Amino acid sequence: MSYLQEYQASVADPAAFWAHKASKIAWYKAPTKIISQHDNVYHWFADGELNTCYLALDQQVLEGRGEQTALIYDSPVTQTKQQYTYKQLLEEVAKFAGVLQAHGVTKGDRVVIYMPMIPQAVIAMLASARLGAIHSVVFGGFAPHELAIRIDDAKPKVVISASCGIEINRVISYKPLLDSAIDKAEFKPEHCIIFQRPQDPATLVAGRDVDWQQAMLNATAVDAVPVQSTDPLYILYTSGTTGKPKGVVRDNGGHAVALKYSMQAIYDIQAGDVFWAASDVGWVVGHSYIVYGPLLAGATTILYEGKPVFTPDAGAFWRVCAEYNVKAIFAAPTAFRAIRKEDPHAELLKLHNLSQLKHVFMAGERLDPPTYQWACEVLGKPVIDHWWQTETGWAICANLAGVELLPAKPGSSTKPVPGYHVQILDDAGQAVPANTQGNIAIKLPLPPGCLATIWGNPERFKAGYLSHFPGYYSSGDGGYLDEDGYLFVMGRTDDVINVAGHRLSTGEMEEILASHPAVAECCVIGLPDELKGQQPVGFVLLKNGITVDETTLQAELVALVRQEIGAVASFKKALIVPRLPKTRSGKILRKLLRQIGEGQSYQVPSTIDDPASLPEIANIMKQRGIT
Ligand code: COA
Ligand code: AMP
Repeated sequence: MSYLQEYQASVADPAAFWAHKASKIAWYKAPTKIISQHDNVYHWFADGELNTCYLALDQQVLEGRGEQTALIYDSPVTQTKQQYTYKQLLEEVAKFAGVLQAHGVTKGDRVVIYMPMIPQAVIAMLASARLGAIHSVVFGGFAPHELAIRIDDAKPKVVISASCGIEINRVISYKPLLDSAIDKAEFKPEHCIIFQRPQDPATLVAGRDVDWQQAMLNATAVDAVPVQSTDPLYILYTSGTTGKPKGVVRDNGGHAVALKYSMQAIYDIQAGDVFWAASDVGWVVGHSYIVYGPLLAGATTILYEGKPVFTPDAGAFWRVCAEYNVKAIFAAPTAFRAIRKEDPHAELLKLHNLSQLKHVFMAGERLDPPTYQWACEVLGKPVIDHWWQTETGWAICANLAGVELLPAKPGSSTKPVPGYHVQILDDAGQAVPANTQGNIAIKLPLPPGCLATIWGNPERFKAGYLSHFPGYYSSGDGGYLDEDGYLFVMGRTDDVINVAGHRLSTGEMEEILASHPAVAECCVIGLPDELKGQQPVGFVLLKNGITVDETTLQAELVALVRQEIGAVASFKKALIVPRLPKTRSGKILRKLLRQIGEGQSYQVPSTIDDPASLPEIANIMKQRGIT
């Protein structure tokens, strides 16, 4: 089947298209309602019953894959390599589900998982799914404040963590971070289950904390609990425009159907193939393509506890691909930029046999044409840019390796994936002609697998995504479709930035900077960074009468952001400015600041309050080497 036929089938009759895809999974009760509406929101397979963990493990064993490797753990930072067959992974997960059940976790309860990249993170997610509980994985690089916000929002019965994580050669004790988060949070979980790592065993709090390894000694395996298709599988918090992250809710049924379809159609992965998403379980890529997608497809997945560089060198990705016969790799462009920086001629690639590698997928941020060209040249394989978001859970636009590879265009994530009706709208909601930039919107209904709501806040879901353009999901990204229908995503239209593939809110950073006693007003924007794609830069206005040296203030603000969000924010630059460019109604002209920072020409808007603020701030940026 051609791309066009597949795509047209999905938009001509979405219910028939997805009913067919849904028939590929083993439901306890097959759905008869394929698409329905409730409270003005679409739902997929509403009367179907299933269990996602059952599909990912039990069903694979039933289909004869018990002895096939399900999960490869490769950890250069601990010099560990370990493999689990489907049968072994099922045993571990069923037992750990028993541990959770023994600590009171039942269907619908929330379980927060704050873990490094170790197999126990995957086991914890699947065990939660097995019980019909709702997991919420919090990226291990987030600071206690961020973890506390998520604990307060999700109200988990249990938090699962590990004693430590390892960043290249630095041991990061997780337990004090977890303790501090629980201190800060208003909601107190009943138990914390801690996986003890030999690099830094943790001290446990009597009565509250449980030792993972001890608990597993006496655990009883439990069976999968059937859930409704529309019951939540997980909540994944993502950055919005404010300091309060949005808890994206994913259902069970739509998710399983969409991911299974995507493994074959987008990634060309069949049962028995090896797939590697070099991401982190704390991000959506980790959820969809380290854990659920590959296992639902009966493939082998890789959990890599390391970096693209320095663990030990820029050949790490090639070594893993060659060692495990990886058929498709998926990583963020920033990882390839890091490799290129260390090994521009890819000398280390020559040491490895990558003949099994068929496709290279990239997402998480814009794939800039130079990185695309470099990867194509050194690898000699199709490099596929695809665009998606935490909210959608799987790709919106891609080049479908498992259907038909279309000619690629650098800078484009190719064409809409079947199920997504992508349009470019102007600010008034009118469709714009080809090659005209605008807001990227998706006509409703979204296909299966996309967000069902925002946890505990359906109004925020509607206000944030569905109300800008009635009848459409508003992506928050801007870009254009060219004359051939190829999508070019140019960047966010809101205050979200993307630093090394990590999605962060400048609004949240502003709230943190504003909490400093010397700061009267501030603004944070994302500016281009050669390695990380974007870097946050802060502009601060001091309170009257305060004099402080810029270097000292910058160091304090950097420390504050590190303490509140985490090192991962990579907030390193703060500039003191005498005034901020604003409209007469007081709105800071962030877009203008970005244009100045990017060295672009800009037009002074008629609404500006104080035109002299622009050359002044441009000069300060120049002096500080920002432009
Ligand atoms: N736990 C604790 N700290 C973490 C962390 C984690 N899980 N992940 C990152 N950090 C810390 C790092 O140690 C670093 O700390 P430092 O400022 O004290 O050195 C900081 O957060 C920034 O980390 P990172 O963004 O990873 O930058 P880096 O300079 O260490 O590495 C890259 C650069 C490009 C190698 C790295 O960003 C990378 O591999 N990116 C790919 C990201 C990715 O896969 N994203 C998923 C989207 S698909
Ligand atoms: P996240 O929710 O963390 O996956 O981040 C989603 C955001 O990352 C999107 O809204 C885009 O701004 C950006 N993004 C992801 N993939 C791409 C891509 N292939 N091209 C351009 N931007 C991307």
